[in-house]
Amino acid sequence: MTIEATARAHPNMALVKYWGKRDEQLMLPSTGSLSMTLDEFPTTTTVRLRTDGGPDVLELNGVVAGGDAAARVTRFLDLVRERAGSEARAIVRSRNEVPTGAGLASSASGFAALATAASAVYELPQDTTSRSRLARRGSGSACRSIIDRMAVWHAGTDDESSYAERIDAPELAMVVVVLDSGRKKVSSREAMRLTAATSPFAAAWRESTARTLEDMLAACREGDVTRIGELAEVNALRMHAVIQSTSPSVRYLSGRSLDVFDGIESLRADGIGVWGTADAGPNVVAITRPADAAAVAEALTSHGEVRVVRPGPGARLLEDP
Ligand code: DP6
Repeated sequence: MTIEATARAHPNMALVKYWGKRDEQLMLPSTGSLSMTLDEFPTTTTVRLRTDGGPDVLELNGVVAGGDAAARVTRFLDLVRERAGSEARAIVRSRNEVPTGAGLASSASGFAALATAASAVYELPQDTTSRSRLARRGSGSACRSIIDRMAVWHAGTDDESSYAERIDAPELAMVVVVLDSGRKKVSSREAMRLTAATSPFAAAWRESTARTLEDMLAACREGDVTRIGELAEVNALRMHAVIQSTSPSVRYLSGRSLDVFDGIESLRADGIGVWGTADAGPNVVAITRPADAAAVAEALTSHGEVRVVRPGPGARLLEDP
């Protein structure tokens, strides 16, 4: 029996956002979504089964974690153990090169790597679709980080039908503008609940996102980068609009984020194909063609630390960590 496995996964950046669940228990989203898996900011996670009867332990970047993070990992491992018919507890060691909690989706790379390593040591099915379904139970967007390059997450109606899958798309690059790498005040999970419970625009958000996903899939098939960028920017700003419309209001974008969106707009006025997006945090990500990425990065560098990223690999086991 293998008692240890190490997996690596990367975050993904959604071009059509997931914001809202229809079933929190099964982690079924209220709409489908679409993303690019990045080639930077990996999370590397080792799962080692305990043979001494001790409890689950989570170590994040060399420090033993407690609280919510540890409880979430234990809940996830409980699900894995239930499926595997195992009682074995585990030591989980995770190293993250994503600024944790800053809206750069560290939970996506984290649970994609954990699902992949845990599937190996607990001897669960290791095909891509099974791992994507499993990763979803840890954090919704993690199901897309199982997939390389570009992924569509089918919303589905039950555990079986809700998973991410690879799609073909034209070559894209992204320029990540890191404005703040601190932890966000309201978690996505909490803010999604608040949106469903209090926003008068929640239903309109769901309907418009479902339509945008259809349009985005068509734009990807047709290789239409301009359309992809336009759809992604509108979808991201609609997500932030519905988030701000909660009571009490939650606002992830800062004044500096809006300055970056202005910078992107003026680059567009100069004829460069570039569009903005942002997850549940202040950092802004510019979407562009690979040939324009260096110029976009140069132009946005006055706003914050910039990183050019390209489509990256899906979650996988490492032979020699
Ligand atoms: C804004 O997947 O982090 O990044 O499922 O509750 O763990 P949970 O939420 P999470 O939410 C991601 C929200 C988003 C949009 C996206 O990635 O599609």
